[in-house]
Amino acid sequence: MKKLIPLLFCIAATLYAKEQHPITKVNAWFKEEQTRTTGTFHKFATLATVSRDGHPHTRMIELVGLNPQQGGLFFTHKNSEKVKHLEHSSHAALNIWLPQTHRQISIDGVVSQISEAEAEKSWNRMPRFMKITFMASTHQGEISSNEVLEERKKQLEELYPKEIPMPGTFVGYRILPQKVIFYEIQSKSFPIKHIALIGSDDWSICQVEP
Ligand SMILES: Cc1cc2nc3c(=O)[nH]c(=O)nc-3n(C[C@H](O)[C@H](O)[C@H](O)COP(=O)(O)O)c2cc1C
Repeated sequence: MKKLIPLLFCIAATLYAKEQHPITKVNAWFKEEQTRTTGTFHKFATLATVSRDGHPHTRMIELVGLNPQQGGLFFTHKNSEKVKHLEHSSHAALNIWLPQTHRQISIDGVVSQISEAEAEKSWNRMPRFMKITFMASTHQGEISSNEVLEERKKQLEELYPKEIPMPGTFVGYRILPQKVIFYEIQSKSFPIKHIALIGSDDWSICQVEP
């Protein structure tokens, strides 16, 4: 019941005000972080998925797109563990730490695979060295050393002197958020925590105890 009270308050709050979409706020936080970052800025996130037998696993991914309509976009290899996990459960979570602004963003949502045609548009924009690196690793089994990958790279360079067609192993996913938690550390005060929840027709957002 105690946990229900803030949620009910959130729901009530939407009756009075249309909230800003949480992804708009996520992008605003990324922008502020970027202005304080020297060098290249990447939208890296830790992605959590769950195996068929209920074991959670996390790993980093790069969000290559993030907007309110389509959620977060990332790409990966078809043979990776995350793909196996997502095949049996589409529920996943992202955790993003923004070190310059001392903020954390947690996103829980549902993941779906994008079409091959859409993935191909991103593949075509990728630099050649990234395509070759992607194709050199099969994400299957042991290797004796990185020499194995370097050798495959050489072979791929010879095989594809010009264009490199998108391999079937290049897959893209979108995570559509259902809950977003914003957590901001303050140097001499309490952290500030907001929870945004998707309702039947809109988002509600409210501050909760940190
Ligand atoms: C900073 C960073 C960014 C990464 N970005 C991606 C990514 O966008 N897509 C991806 O498949 N792997 C990415 N990786 C590698 C993954 O973390 C992971 O090792 C790999 O995808 C295999 O994951 P899995 O077998 O657990 O699914 C990244 C790793 C790091 C350290």
